[in-house]
Amino acid sequence: MTNETPKKKWIMNAFAMFAPGHLSPGQWKHPDDRAGNYTDLTYWTDLARILEAGKFHGLFLADVLGIYDVYKGPANSTPALESGSQFPIGDPFLLISAMAAVTKSLSFAITASTSYENPYATARKFSTLDHLTKGRVGWNIVTSYLDSAAKAFGLDEQIPHDERYARAEEYLEVVYKLLEGSWKDDARVQDLQTGKYSIAEKVRAIEHNGKYYKCNATHQLHPSIQRTPFILQAGASTAGKNFATKHSEAMFLPGLDPHKIRKEVDAIREQVVSHGRSADSLKILAGVLVIVDETDEKAQAKYEEYLKYADLEGAATLFGGWTNHDLSKYGEDDDFKFTGSGAIQSMVNTWSATIPGTDGIKWTRRRVLQELAIGGAHPRAIGSPQTVADKLQKFIDEAGIDGFNLSYAVSPGNFEDMIKYLWPELRKRGVFWDDYEKEGISMRESYLGDGKGARLREDHPGVNYRWVD
Ligand SMILES: Cc1cc2nc3c(=O)[nH]c(=O)nc-3n(C[C@H](O)[C@H](O)[C@H](O)COP(=O)(O)O)c2cc1C
Repeated sequence: MTNETPKKKWIMNAFAMFAPGHLSPGQWKHPDDRAGNYTDLTYWTDLARILEAGKFHGLFLADVLGIYDVYKGPANSTPALESGSQFPIGDPFLLISAMAAVTKSLSFAITASTSYENPYATARKFSTLDHLTKGRVGWNIVTSYLDSAAKAFGLDEQIPHDERYARAEEYLEVVYKLLEGSWKDDARVQDLQTGKYSIAEKVRAIEHNGKYYKCNATHQLHPSIQRTPFILQAGASTAGKNFATKHSEAMFLPGLDPHKIRKEVDAIREQVVSHGRSADSLKILAGVLVIVDETDEKAQAKYEEYLKYADLEGAATLFGGWTNHDLSKYGEDDDFKFTGSGAIQSMVNTWSATIPGTDGIKWTRRRVLQELAIGGAHPRAIGSPQTVADKLQKFIDEAGIDGFNLSYAVSPGNFEDMIKYLWPELRKRGVFWDDYEKEGISMRESYLGDGKGARLREDHPGVNYRWVD
């Protein structure tokens, strides 16, 4: 008998996009990469099978609704088209059924924006997929950041940042009304005796007359296993964090330095409580790129090989879309430790503090882009199973987070390496589960691990929209 408290089991999520690559532009040229053939459905069904066999909690699909056109801009699509940086890109909703058909317990998080599409249509799509996956679907709520998307959806420019969140707030009200309040659980009876499919008195139209949305409708599907999909969010601004801590059940944080993240994490957990929710009703995941092999040398050699395929123009293209800063406006030799916007300088300062051997080096544009080219602005964990596990453990301990959003350079190879090399080490340390808690587990149960079922927790704001007599 030992008195040791059981170790916290980490949440491990694969991070990808329905595009030729996600955060590592240019790797579509690598012979081992299958993500470049992004419209090959067998790539996606194989990936889903691999992730489920490896007991990943879920596959998270990022999404954008336009093209990255800030770099060498304005409105220049050439760098994104030539590098294949998050473009072309398909609709992630349409991948899920196929992947659900070849898996039983892997969850799927889909990014969907509240800025352009209508809440009634979005509620229907999530309900449909929650039925087809048997409760394995999640919604990464974003408000979108590309001007090109705003123009595509008929606006001259993006809706101002904080107003996007005000709209998102109302958007969710409509969605909760539809998903939580339009049907009673026992409304659909398929009764052969009476010949009635549903009981009309147990289904009602919801009404919403708000500032941004109007909806007077009966939700089009009967309640699914989760009703409301598991909610994820990544707000970083004041408005974004307020939204995330109120609604989300898992939150993603960028950031390289676990100590800095710790402050964020503590503040986030306090804010969750201020919304009347329990602190552990929201799981916090950090994005990280993992390249693991038998030894440090082998893993480092892989990373250096990937660097040969990296497309630095593609990295500049992504950076332009994320920050609205056009790096082509700076000289080749400028030192970004001292020039550029605050966002660039703070990124460079964090890198120089966390990457050994970079003291005193000049952070030229090329150097900055090399850092971004594999895994974007996320930290990297490269090395043997022990090295990577130590790095991740440090993150968990110092930052106080619950797990990771794991990105790749080449797919599915990097995920297979995690399963082969890293998982045994994590299991030896008691921090990764052996299997899903049950076959066919819902996303909410899988991520929250609190044994409280597939529906929204009682302290979540969505429950206020339930139909109670
Ligand atoms: C790990 C991570 C993944 C994200 N994925 C997406 C995405 O797929 N699509 C998107 O439009 N925004 C995405 N975002 C951006 C966030 O939704 C959010 O806009 C950003 O973190 C800035 O926060 P703010 O909106 O509060 O200013 C992501 C952010 C992070 C940190």
